[in-house]
Amino acid sequence: MNDRSLRKLYIETVGCQMNMLDSEMVVASLRRKGYELTDSTSDADTILFNTCSVREQAENKTYSALGRLRDEKKNHPQKIIGVMGCMAQKDQELIFKKAPFVDIVVGPGQLQQIPDLIEKARNEGGRHKALSLGRTDGALRDIKRSHETFDPLRDPTMRPTPFQAFLRIQIGCDKFCTYCIVPMTRGPEQGRDPLLIFDEAKILADQGCKEITLLGQTVNSYKHVAPDGKQTRLADLLYQLHGIDGLERIKFVTNYPKDMNYELLSAVRDLDKVSPYLHVPLQSGSNSVLQRMKRGYTVADYRAMMSRIEETLGDAAAVSSDFIVGFCGETEEEFEETVNLVEECRFKNSFIFKYSERPGTKAANHLPDDVPFDVKRRRNNELLDVQNRISEEDNHRFLGQTLPVLVEGKSKRFDKQSDEPVDTNGPIQLTGRTHDDRIVVFDGNTRLIGEIISIGVYEVSGLTLLGTVVTGSVTGDVVMLGT
Ligand code: 5AD
Ligand code: SF4
Repeated sequence: MNDRSLRKLYIETVGCQMNMLDSEMVVASLRRKGYELTDSTSDADTILFNTCSVREQAENKTYSALGRLRDEKKNHPQKIIGVMGCMAQKDQELIFKKAPFVDIVVGPGQLQQIPDLIEKARNEGGRHKALSLGRTDGALRDIKRSHETFDPLRDPTMRPTPFQAFLRIQIGCDKFCTYCIVPMTRGPEQGRDPLLIFDEAKILADQGCKEITLLGQTVNSYKHVAPDGKQTRLADLLYQLHGIDGLERIKFVTNYPKDMNYELLSAVRDLDKVSPYLHVPLQSGSNSVLQRMKRGYTVADYRAMMSRIEETLGDAAAVSSDFIVGFCGETEEEFEETVNLVEECRFKNSFIFKYSERPGTKAANHLPDDVPFDVKRRRNNELLDVQNRISEEDNHRFLGQTLPVLVEGKSKRFDKQSDEPVDTNGPIQLTGRTHDDRIVVFDGNTRLIGEIISIGVYEVSGLTLLGTVVTGSVTGDVVMLGT
């Protein structure tokens, strides 16, 4: 048997959607070299960790997972262990110090090197790394070049579902919020060429993709200037992609509040394939905290953005947010300002994080991480309670309505019970999403997966809408089947 056909890859991915996409690309490139995926490290001859550095906890988990491989590597020294992603770029040599049995370390801007580095490590032994330049390690042009996007291969079998895909339109970030490590790990902001984006979207649509999610750290700041001077912004891209047959939903994350302009919002309003779902992290409702975070906007600016959204999209828009609680020096009064603004903005949902100091950021260098952990935890829970109540209240208006839902797959609850015998022809619990990104749970046949169907909503919670498959018109009265 050819040696290549024996290769087995185990890959573990943590972090954001960028990382999920990076893993998809790396897996696709290794499959072309004859690798198969395995879900056990003992079965694998190559083990990769795609890592995240946004909070310390994610890094600790990766280091613990690596530690558990120490004996495996001792017993099978030919096994190649690699660390890729943001923690690789941030910690570099430190990874070899903390986990000396690691063979390769590859930053998110150098992923195209992974197949070669694995071969090198396997054939020559030794440690290998491929990293991008730091933000002060040379001329901007060289730094940009050292952070390459890696989007060559789209393999439908590698996606969580074949009918949904991420599409990178921008890499890096130039906002330099004081708490954030991303501008260091993913380098300068660069918009991909719209022609490449369009071609990739067409390939995805040809592969049966119905929903694409455009990715960028500040996706609505997307800008590309062609050699002839022609400028493309996110609104232009949306118009271009809207024309692709087969695509039915286009989403984009994550947005930066100041760049949520009328032009973009009008595109969201006028293009029916574009989801009226806007994830626009606010981070804090206090001007003094926003200033210490160097977010570049005030509470008044964010309110003005919410008014622009309301004016353009009315209640069709679902806005969600991120918050950091317990940022350096955050007082009880400053936290209360955040609670009040959450009450005012009534987000669809919010992701709430406890501040985690990241070495190398401005906050770590200049501001003390002085809010005790239990205060951070209490504020986190308090804000979450407020948001959960708002989410549930917000969902109430969908009771009795019929909504188009893209069916994504079996619900987690069903998956957990899946060792019970099931009649595969009968209905099981499925999950999907509305156009504005609300999670819907209902009973249906697995052949509905990948379809956009009508669901009548009969119960709601903060996190989900419960419904039943409906026959007849999408906009008419609810006609329930079953339950
Ligand atoms: N500590 C806690 N949360 C953070 N985020 C980014 N950096 C940090 C940090 N150092 C959060 C922000 C961002 C989300 C992706 O992660 O809320 O929007
Ligand atoms: Fe980090 Fe701020 Fe850039 Fe978002 S905008 S990736 S929080 S630096």
